[in-house]
Amino acid sequence: MAIRRIRIQGDSVLTKTAKEIPEVTGRIRTLAEDMLETMYDAEGVGLAAPQVGILKRIVVIDVSEERNQPVVLINPVIVEAQGEQTGYEGCLSVPGKSGLVTRPMHVRVKARNLDFEEVELEADEFFARAVCHELDHLDGCLYVSKVEGELIDPTTLEEE
Ligand code: NI
Repeated sequence: MAIRRIRIQGDSVLTKTAKEIPEVTGRIRTLAEDMLETMYDAEGVGLAAPQVGILKRIVVIDVSEERNQPVVLINPVIVEAQGEQTGYEGCLSVPGKSGLVTRPMHVRVKARNLDFEEVELEADEFFARAVCHELDHLDGCLYVSKVEGELIDPTTLEEE
């Protein structure tokens, strides 16, 4: 496994649409492993392939506190969204910033796993937020385009 360089806002790869993955090859498996390692190293909860410069439809997510529940989604599609939540969001490609974004409270996702089997996933609350955020990356969309109000420095947010 290897840590890949995370592309930062301003890099044009982050604004492009990623391509569907037709089959899981060794390169895709390596990409998934590297993306997980890169995400954990950067202490992020999710990472999409365009963020490491690869325009393919694959994301990795781990919203667990123990950092031991990796989810890999290939060609993911949101097939159902319910409810609404508004909360602060950040992105490894937009370091040092955070902003309020409204997302669904619940999503159902169809995707393929690393064996290229069809899988279905239900995600709620913060997990749903992470799924929506990462899938947006596959369509060249950064959360900053959805922020309500100003981007802030998250270290100034006080815990309540
Ligand atoms: Ni992001």
